[in-house]
Amino acid sequence: KAKSKSVFYCSSCGHEEPKWLGRCPGCGEWNSFKEKVLPTAAPTPSGLFEEAAVPQKISSIILEDVTRQSTGIPEADQVLGGGLVEGSAVLLGGEPGIGKSTLMLQIAMMASQDREVLYISGEESPRQIKLRANRLGINSDKLILYCESRVEEILRTLEERKPGLVVMDSIQTIQSPSQGMVPGTVNQLKYGCFELINWVRKRGAVLFLIAHVTKDGAIAGPKVIEHMVDTVLYFDHSGSELRVLRATKNRFGSVDEVGLFQMGSEGLSQVSHPEGLFLENREGELPPGISVAPVFEGSRVLLVEIQSLTVPAKGAVSRIFSDRVEGSRVSRVAAIMEKHLGIKFSDQDIYINVAGGMKIAEIGMELPLALAIYSARTGIRIPSDLIALGEMSLTGEIRPVPQIRRRLKAAEEMGFKRILIPGKSDETQEWTGSPPIIAKDIKEAIKQVFS
Ligand code: TYD
Ligand code: MG
Repeated sequence: KAKSKSVFYCSSCGHEEPKWLGRCPGCGEWNSFKEKVLPTAAPTPSGLFEEAAVPQKISSIILEDVTRQSTGIPEADQVLGGGLVEGSAVLLGGEPGIGKSTLMLQIAMMASQDREVLYISGEESPRQIKLRANRLGINSDKLILYCESRVEEILRTLEERKPGLVVMDSIQTIQSPSQGMVPGTVNQLKYGCFELINWVRKRGAVLFLIAHVTKDGAIAGPKVIEHMVDTVLYFDHSGSELRVLRATKNRFGSVDEVGLFQMGSEGLSQVSHPEGLFLENREGELPPGISVAPVFEGSRVLLVEIQSLTVPAKGAVSRIFSDRVEGSRVSRVAAIMEKHLGIKFSDQDIYINVAGGMKIAEIGMELPLALAIYSARTGIRIPSDLIALGEMSLTGEIRPVPQIRRRLKAAEEMGFKRILIPGKSDETQEWTGSPPIIAKDIKEAIKQVFS
């Protein structure tokens, strides 16, 4: 009879050693080692299904067109580059609570209309998933819930059922006794994902791997999986309202598209016309300190409201309070105005906010930012139907921004009538509001807007 093998592992950090040690070399903890008897090793199942590859002439290979299947959710299709591709693997990352499981369940439901979907969860019980599904109004005979986290079991079930779409929620729960005793290690995760990806490639199914990513992205897990999959999607907040689905890698499409969603009581809904989502009440006159900037979020234009407040500095040094727009940009814009307009900002505390809590880093917001700060400082309002476009240089000149036509179109749709741009442009041809106001530098811009 073969002697059963065992390993020793640290109960505090998971470090494994073949022998018992008094002190863990991994975390330095004393007396933390425990023994674990290993089950007799199972052969890795992937070898059983795989046929050996055959070398072939490049000229003999016939390319078939990539067929794409819609997820049934246009915003998701757009980010995927047109839809799901057979035999491909997608990694969906995001912070806990952002809505990954919700999005996946919604995609799974749509997909289950014409194929079997296996939703594997290592995190939640069938009951918990059913509760979420009820909330989303989801039910289907072809949507199979499977609460399992052991790779060997999962592969066996995949071979048995041959689903067309597989979801693994989440990869951090994957485990395999062949890769050490502690679940959640990078080895377990890599091995498990590799086996699942292999399986869908062979069978022409589609795989979604869900991964938790913390704020600082410090978890090593998802990063090591990125190169194994075809598409990497990240689900993230943008402002308090909006959730943005973005591709950071896509073998089958561009990475410029974004999908926009809102979480409601019945799950995620698509935001198809998000242009005005960040505009607050625009009836009548606006108080001083408010301007609107048309900025790009992926390939979409959003109109965002910039709010500014200036008060005489309380301390010897003036300060800038701005979470949504980089502070250094605010002080640069204020310095340019101080120099070229002869109005003092350096004795002021400047507060900047963006409605809806969206962060903006785009150059196209510099002129609108300048106008908001000027308006706050002087108490003169900016007309509520005016939109300004431009980047500011240190010399006080205003420079054009890319994609003016697209920005103007969005502004027009939201009812803006006047535009301020740094120079004549072909891109204003479709603009139907009043003739564009042209200002080459900040001095002219201020004169045009405020007098
Ligand atoms: P979830 O999909 O579980 O997030 P993740 O899998 O990324 O951790 O959903 C996260 C949050 O969404 C949770 O706090 C509850 C909320 N939620 C709604 O507001 N409405 C809904 O219909 C559902 C299903 C969830
Ligand atoms: Mg989840």
